[in-house]
Amino acid sequence: MAKAHLRVHRDEPVAAVSDRLFGSFVEHMGRAVYTGIYEPGHSTANAVGFRTDVLDLVRELGATVIRYPGGNFVSGFRWEDSVGPRDERPVRLDVAWHSVETNEVGLHEFAEWADDAGVEIMQAVNLGTRGIEAAAALLEYSNHAGRTARSDERRANGRETPFGITLWCLGNEMDGPWQIGHKTADEYGRLAAETGRVMKWVDPSIELVAAGSSNADMPTFGEWERTVLARSAEVIDHISLHAYYEETGGDVASFLASGVGLDRYIGTVAAIIDESLAEQKLEKTIGISVDEWNVWYQSRFNDVDKPPLFAGDWNEHPRIIEDEYSVTDAVVVGSLLMSLLRNADRVSMANLAQLVNVIAPIRSEPDGPAWRQTTFHPFALTAAAARGTVLRSSVSSPTVDTPLYGTVDLLDAVVVQNDGELVLLLVNRDTAEPLSLTVDLGHSAAVTSALSIHAPVGGSRFSANTEAAPDTVVPVPLESVAISDGVLSAELPPLSWSIVRLASAPISEGATA
Ligand code: AHR
Repeated sequence: MAKAHLRVHRDEPVAAVSDRLFGSFVEHMGRAVYTGIYEPGHSTANAVGFRTDVLDLVRELGATVIRYPGGNFVSGFRWEDSVGPRDERPVRLDVAWHSVETNEVGLHEFAEWADDAGVEIMQAVNLGTRGIEAAAALLEYSNHAGRTARSDERRANGRETPFGITLWCLGNEMDGPWQIGHKTADEYGRLAAETGRVMKWVDPSIELVAAGSSNADMPTFGEWERTVLARSAEVIDHISLHAYYEETGGDVASFLASGVGLDRYIGTVAAIIDESLAEQKLEKTIGISVDEWNVWYQSRFNDVDKPPLFAGDWNEHPRIIEDEYSVTDAVVVGSLLMSLLRNADRVSMANLAQLVNVIAPIRSEPDGPAWRQTTFHPFALTAAAARGTVLRSSVSSPTVDTPLYGTVDLLDAVVVQNDGELVLLLVNRDTAEPLSLTVDLGHSAAVTSALSIHAPVGGSRFSANTEAAPDTVVPVPLESVAISDGVLSAELPPLSWSIVRLASAPISEGATA
């Protein structure tokens, strides 16, 4: 059996893990909102119409901050349509997703849902068809206490106290030709800067996220960030990157190395931020907001879903990109989260895109049940355990050649230290063989839990959770873990993601393993 070794550098903290690393995303798209989080006729619906079965799963997932209301949707959205008496709200065409938007759920309802779910709202403004005036008005409506027309309108609409939204996205994917109101980097950079400036005059306590690249293969990637930062660095607090991964042409080796791709993407954006701040002589930090990331079979979306969707009838909440996730997808989602943790010194927040039904860890059926996709599990387990400080660790491992990322280690690992706890996140990228792992802990420790996600007995790496069989793929005990003389040993199953939690002493000055 191939052998790998992990060394934990207990005296080398990488960074504190921000709670905001475990964010997600609810867009007015497909069935994310309607029949996703909201379905007034459902047997579990609360007084507002939100499904409490879905709310329970959102809490269990451990999502901390939710980006809303888009996505591509926001670039054609008039926020004023979504407030006020519900029966008077206009029904609009949503041309981003070829859908009919009823505006039955709007800012007030979503804020109530967010309170119930215990999440922070990350609000996006429309910089596609709109600009400074609409963004500043929405901010005033949301965050100003009262005695202005906008804030009094909010109070008249039933919300006395301000929503107090801190995080604001300046548009969405403005580099993409698919975006309503797509712009050049220069046009967007100027608009983001001028909109952001006015928004901070309305409420100086907010944090602004400028839109970076839609993916690392965009022809404008790099130049886009440089130009946007040159125009807006003074006013923004974060710049986004979006990253979706899929297995194409049976290239599972590259797919399993997606975390390496994300590491490099983050590294490039971080270098551009540093260069730009230095050039502009700005003494500030700008975080990277990975505010859309996931596995998404985009090739399937483009080839199969998109033509009929965009040519067909206009419907309310059509089924769009309801990808069913496999064991392999869950392992990749787990390793993408590990990449975000590994880069916790630069990544200020991240949002799994999306939350319910649309490329989501949670699925629900109208009038039916809600269930956990395979990808739910690594997210929930990581969000619950990987808090505290990421520690530097070094891997010595056999390797695998991948067409997209070159030679990569078979073992992927991240270590997080929390009060009295050490958390190991581990991936075996070998699709056929187990990997024998040893970890130098350098001190005594006791295993409190060890769980793994891999192909179930009688299943395969393609096994998935469905409405009929929602618990086909669940975390199972990693039986092989043992500790002797400060060395942990384990056998990682083929194509697996694992989490090992250890009761252990906190970092002490100068301690090394
Ligand atoms: O998450 C689905 C879509 O992907 C979003 O609307 C858009 O921002 C991205 O292209």
